Amino acid sequence: MNTEQHSPWVRVHPLAVRLTHWINVVAMLIMVTSGWRIYNASPIFPFRIPGDITLGGWLGGALQWHFAAMWLLAVNGLVYLAYGIVSGHFRRKFWPISPAAVIADVLAALRGKLSHEDLSIYNAAQRAAYATLILAIVVLVLSGLAIWKPVQLQGLAALMGGYEGARIVHFVAMALAVFIVIVHVAMVALVPRTLHSMITGNVRRVRT
Ligand code: HEM
Repeated sequence: MNTEQHSPWVRVHPLAVRLTHWINVVAMLIMVTSGWRIYNASPIFPFRIPGDITLGGWLGGALQWHFAAMWLLAVNGLVYLAYGIVSGHFRRKFWPISPAAVIADVLAALRGKLSHEDLSIYNAAQRAAYATLILAIVVLVLSGLAIWKPVQLQGLAALMGGYEGARIVHFVAMALAVFIVIVHVAMVALVPRTLHSMITGNVRRVRT
């Protein structure tokens, strides 16, 4: 007898995805809030980030947080990307993405008509959001490297218009990632079952 078929639970998120997801949340939180403090020391736009939501206390402290969490973000991100590619996770969960399906699902979500029956499959809006978020974090890491070592990584910095260009790319990628994460967390709050599934890995089987 296959006990899996009789279990009321279906595994939707493998352990590797859950572990790297939650480590990534901690790393991103530290990177973004310490990054805001670093930005405040020399803003590139005519505004500063309110000090109360930044980390590090002063420029030196913020840089230490940023450089410490950078390793966590990069190593954890590489593990997630390697797992996603080698195991076929990305192909299975994020592919295919078609612009028409993304537009249709975003419109359905705005009208509150998007189905959340089967949590083992990401809808087109989720696929597009997660893929864009992953890409934004890759761009964040690459532009961060260009800002950190603009002389040694001249080629990389040149691709972004030099040191100053890399700072703008870094800021814009951060803003995009923060925006998607805010929408992401709002969607999780609307469908709390997904949070349980990202912690335990399982969702209750839908009876048909
Ligand atoms: C830095 C912030 C975050 C990033 C970059 C991020 C990124 C992602 C990505 C890429 C996925 C898809 C994972 C995969 O299947 O490979 C995902 C799923 C998920 N995330 Fe996040 N996330 C972030 C913050 C959060 C937070 C704060 C929460 C909870 C409040 C959360 C809850 C979830 C849940 C529940 C899912 C599964 C959604 C579902 O099964 O429908 N995430 N996240």
